[in-house]
Amino acid sequence: MILQFFLCFGILFGLIQGIVYDSFDGIPISDEEVIQHSLQNTTFWCINDIEPCNPEEWRRLDGSCNNLRQPTRGATHTPLYRMLPAAYHKGCNGQKSNLPLVRRLRTSFLAEAKVPDQTFTMLAAYFLLFIASDIANLHDTVNYVQWTSHCCAPKGKEDPMCAPIEVPADDLFHRFTGIRCLNLTKPLTFQTVGCGRKDTPPERILSATPLFDLSTVYGNTLDKSLAGRAYRDGLLKYEVEDGRIWPPQDKNNPDCIMNRKPRETRCHKMPSDETNTLIPINLLSIWFWRHHNHIADRLAKINSCWDDEKLFYTARDINSAVVTQILLYELLPMMMGFENLVNDGVLHPIGFRDLYNERLLPQLSMEFPMALRWLHKMQEGTLKLYDADGNFVKKVNLVDLTVRTGYLAVDNNIDYLTQGSFRQASAKMDDDIVDPDMAEKVLGSIQKSQDTFSNDLAKNRLMFIQPYIKYLEYFSGRKITCFDDLAEFFEPEVLEKLSEEYESVEDIDLLAAMWVERSIKGGRVPYMFYNIVVEQLIRTMQSDRHWYERPNRPHAFTSEQLYEIRKATIARVLCDVGDSVTHIQPKAFQRIGPGNEMRSCEEIPEINILAWKDDSII
Ligand SMILES: *[C@@H]1O[C@H](CO)[C@@H](O)[C@H](O)[C@H]1NC(C)=O
Ligand SMILES: *[C@@H]1O[C@H](CO)[C@@H](O)[C@H](O)[C@H]1NC(C)=O
Repeated sequence: MILQFFLCFGILFGLIQGIVYDSFDGIPISDEEVIQHSLQNTTFWCINDIEPCNPEEWRRLDGSCNNLRQPTRGATHTPLYRMLPAAYHKGCNGQKSNLPLVRRLRTSFLAEAKVPDQTFTMLAAYFLLFIASDIANLHDTVNYVQWTSHCCAPKGKEDPMCAPIEVPADDLFHRFTGIRCLNLTKPLTFQTVGCGRKDTPPERILSATPLFDLSTVYGNTLDKSLAGRAYRDGLLKYEVEDGRIWPPQDKNNPDCIMNRKPRETRCHKMPSDETNTLIPINLLSIWFWRHHNHIADRLAKINSCWDDEKLFYTARDINSAVVTQILLYELLPMMMGFENLVNDGVLHPIGFRDLYNERLLPQLSMEFPMALRWLHKMQEGTLKLYDADGNFVKKVNLVDLTVRTGYLAVDNNIDYLTQGSFRQASAKMDDDIVDPDMAEKVLGSIQKSQDTFSNDLAKNRLMFIQPYIKYLEYFSGRKITCFDDLAEFFEPEVLEKLSEEYESVEDIDLLAAMWVERSIKGGRVPYMFYNIVVEQLIRTMQSDRHWYERPNRPHAFTSEQLYEIRKATIARVLCDVGDSVTHIQPKAFQRIGPGNEMRSCEEIPEINILAWKDDSII
């Protein structure tokens, strides 16, 4: 015991640097509690160790000190909030046991085929996935593939972490394969990782920070974030190979298990665990990694007196603002309607705005990452690769590039994938057709079969999300008592199917409804997706003290600088950092066509970096 005690002090001595908070409650805990967590090996999940806040400092790398009253909120491993309370009662999970099987709902509502979208490019789908990986994470997948891989085996029946997906015997696809079970684990919660919350419904725990802060590039935790810095000229570490600039690599990194050795060896060592996973995340992480250095270089040229620290944080601030600007003002209007978003207060195209309210904590809603899963519908599974002149080179399956960073670094593949991203159409998102690979083998050869959409719907239930009609009431104020009350939101044939699949209108799952809901006026997304996303974005603007459009955040942009940020486009980013990109269409989320023809990068407007010239030192 005494030995253990000293051991703990040893751990504490090296580990604890600031004030220690409970990750769930967000309140400081005593030394004894810290020792308890050390003994139980739960410090990683259950405590946040945070240096005291300085109100004037930059946005912290680990997201802490965003809210000065509750410094841990905004950091990793902190709880989400719910728009509507969990459908969960003590002792039972609040769900009817006779709900239709998720796989059955998926196959009857979403058919498998390929339909190219007439507006969006792959780049739009890639960018959205990249945004999702900033605020959510993939440890659920790692869990059922690696940590708890027996969910479809007899052993899985006894494991409370398992939640395998049952495949009905008459399944359209699997009746021929004999597969009756798809692996799945329950989401990690504060309870399952040992943070001992017995008085709440199981609440999901995430390793991402809940803010739009480019964690995929800069990381979610301080130690890893700092390891990415070069500590000179504000740069992130980088290396040059075959004339291309790359983030640093680690050939022994076990993340890239699908690299085909000996040719494919590259695997990145970056602050975020997500970067080597899905190829779109990988690609965009590389671009925005380079983009940081692109900005830092230009800042250094005009401000020779700035030190590494100032260059680094300013470049990061600009990089992150550029990504948020592109999401809000370039991509979302195409999907959700510019006028809709202006009317609902999401967009404010000119000048500053300040919605900050210190009483609101910087948190994600449980519903927001759930709604983003709807976007899986726009993911096309067959990537077309092109050269810089627009000639088709080859095809590759998206699912075969997962955890395979090495593919990018051979045969000019990164160039061809980059060109393909803005030349190829995404899958059509607002229809009831989904890509066959996404629906049957989304993990390629890592799993025999896996269905993204069934998986998404299963999570909807495992997170105790209330039924669709409760959200409809919440957003529209309309009381729904029978299927016919839903006529405004669904096509008649869809409504008929819904009433066949579900016994009661109260049973309809939120995500299943979203798959087949009508699109909103002036947009291409369902009513429910629209409302959940709008509520989250407004909440984020109200609760993120470092929101880039605020005039009085620490190190705020000047109005001249914000004016420059407003010029950011994804086309310009690709011109600046994309491999072999010398020509691109100005609206690169939109397919090349009349009014959006390819242009030389010289004609694509740029942010004028001189807005950051520091006159105080001339
Ligand atoms: C302690 O917890 C960490 C994080 O969950 C885990 O990776 C590690 O294997 C655990 N160590 C022991 C000795 O259980
Ligand atoms: C489920 O996981 C097990 C163990 O990794 C694997 O053998 C099995 O093929 C998986 N099932 C499917 C349908 O992929």
